[in-house]
Amino acid sequence: MADEISHILSADLEDDADRVIEGTLRPRTLDEYIGQREVKANLSVLLTAARGRGEAADHVLLYGPPGLGKTTLATIIARELGVNVKYASGPAIERAGDLAAILTSLDERDVLFIDEIHRLNRAVEEILYPAMEDYALDVMIGKGPSARSLRLSLKPFTLVGATTRAGRISSPLRDRFGATYRLDFYAEEELAAIVERSAAILDVTIEPAATRAIARRGRGTPRIVNRLLKRVRDHAQVHGNGQVDEATATAAMRAMEIDDEGLDSTDRKLLAAIIQKFASGPVGVAALAAVLSEETETIEDVYEPFLLRLGFIDRTPSGRIATDLARAHLSGLGYEIPPPRRADPGMPSLWDEPPSTDA
Ligand SMILES: Nc1ncnc2c1ncn2[C@@H]1O[C@H](COP(=O)(O)OP(=O)(O)OP(=O)(O)O)[C@@H](O)[C@H]1O
Ligand SMILES: [Mg+2]
Repeated sequence: MADEISHILSADLEDDADRVIEGTLRPRTLDEYIGQREVKANLSVLLTAARGRGEAADHVLLYGPPGLGKTTLATIIARELGVNVKYASGPAIERAGDLAAILTSLDERDVLFIDEIHRLNRAVEEILYPAMEDYALDVMIGKGPSARSLRLSLKPFTLVGATTRAGRISSPLRDRFGATYRLDFYAEEELAAIVERSAAILDVTIEPAATRAIARRGRGTPRIVNRLLKRVRDHAQVHGNGQVDEATATAAMRAMEIDDEGLDSTDRKLLAAIIQKFASGPVGVAALAAVLSEETETIEDVYEPFLLRLGFIDRTPSGRIATDLARAHLSGLGYEIPPPRRADPGMPSLWDEPPSTDA
């Protein structure tokens, strides 16, 4: 049993080299955590108050696109509270008993982090309700007519849940979180600060212009700028003297097929599919997924959020559409751009014209 628990708890931590480096780059305190100012301010109040009362902090739900720092924040929460954190992931907790074992293994005020919490199965999720609300565990003893339920008490703990989309979580679960924070894409200056910090940790000498070049193509995402920095460093080591200047940085990113907006080949394939195969849309995500041989979930969670943010696609009730900006971007890269099936909804049409005042 103990082995099984440790297997579930470590599911989040693969031991390939990038993961190890990701660990060393991870900020350890709220002060080191760059950006997300509002989330930090609110979280800081929540944690300071809990610490002051000597109680477990309220349960916290974090949501936002991948790589924005949810796991990092969970680790910071535990550290700021001075307690231990256990990591688990929704799909890895298969049976109610697995979760019960994890919950009973927690010490007073510990943090339990459940990644991809929207993927917990129903039976497991139901164990969480009384655990979150009353620090109680309801177990069934016996089978058939003689079965009875027994309530065991748990030590007070803090659940930190993470998900790429809050809308995926059932409302009974969502309602049991005392605080819900949404992480948003990072501004370019914030990403530049993250690149600088990471370069210092990795002992890479980098020019400010190169830092900015990476930040600009980082898709608003700390994990991506860190990954770009590492590849750019490799490039500088192999093709230069190890120092990273702007020319090396842009050459490295061009070699990775990352364009000036930070889009990679899959992003461009997605846009090109909407524009060329579906006359700029609207097209349903399932059809797009089929054309690209990707999971709809991957398209919705990994690719779309940043394209939406760039204003390259729009979600409409009848499906996704590619905007003029997207067509201009791909056209600039030499793609063939057939005329759109219909005008952008953002463009004023005859019907949207303001009524004239002298009518
Ligand atoms: N605010 C930040 N300041 C500095 N570095 C950050 C910040 N947020 C994240 N990072 C860096 O980005 C990496 C990815 O962050 P993290 O693993 O916490 O993302 P995540 O939201 O949990 O992603 P996923 O949804 O894929 O699990 C971390 O290793 C860390 O180095
Ligand atoms: Mg994570």
